Amino acid sequence: MAILKIARMGHPVLLQKAEPVADPGAPEIRRLVADMIETMEDAMGAGLAAPQVHVPLRLFVFRVPAARAGGDPGDVPVGNTVVINPTVELLTDERVLRWEGCLSIPGLRAAVPRAPRIRYRGVDCDGNAIGGEVAGFHAGVVQHEYDHLDGILYPMRMTDFRNFGFLEELARADAARAAASDAAAAKGGNA
Ligand code: NI
Repeated sequence: MAILKIARMGHPVLLQKAEPVADPGAPEIRRLVADMIETMEDAMGAGLAAPQVHVPLRLFVFRVPAARAGGDPGDVPVGNTVVINPTVELLTDERVLRWEGCLSIPGLRAAVPRAPRIRYRGVDCDGNAIGGEVAGFHAGVVQHEYDHLDGILYPMRMTDFRNFGFLEELARADAARAAASDAAAAKGGNA
């Protein structure tokens, strides 16, 4: 196995429409999937699509860490999962803002409008069906990774660029807000 180099925003491979995988069980696809999982874990990401490692094929890997799962039936923790030749169906016209990062846009975070519920389908390397109806973080990460297969990066989905920033600054602002509300609570006010 190997840790792969991740393409960053600006690299043209991230803007192209990826091609279907002809043989999900081929040895080179199995190797790619194993390397992508290792790369995702090394980078502490929740998802990674093949175009991000310079391979314009329709597959991605993801996981739903316990800390990110919302807990409803469609949003429980999920271990490392590969989805090859996926389809995604948005189950509602509703959009919610979900904070996202991307290993191809390091250091930044944004609130991106996403469908809260989706149905997706794909296969793994053994041809087993993968997917189902999901919600919350699981739905968000699948929409994010699927977009990579169509050359779409999350800033292209954004409608309010005030919700876009460096993780470090956003964390600092959060801490400042929390401290201010603690101070207000200590004074007995909570306006
Ligand atoms: Ni991404």
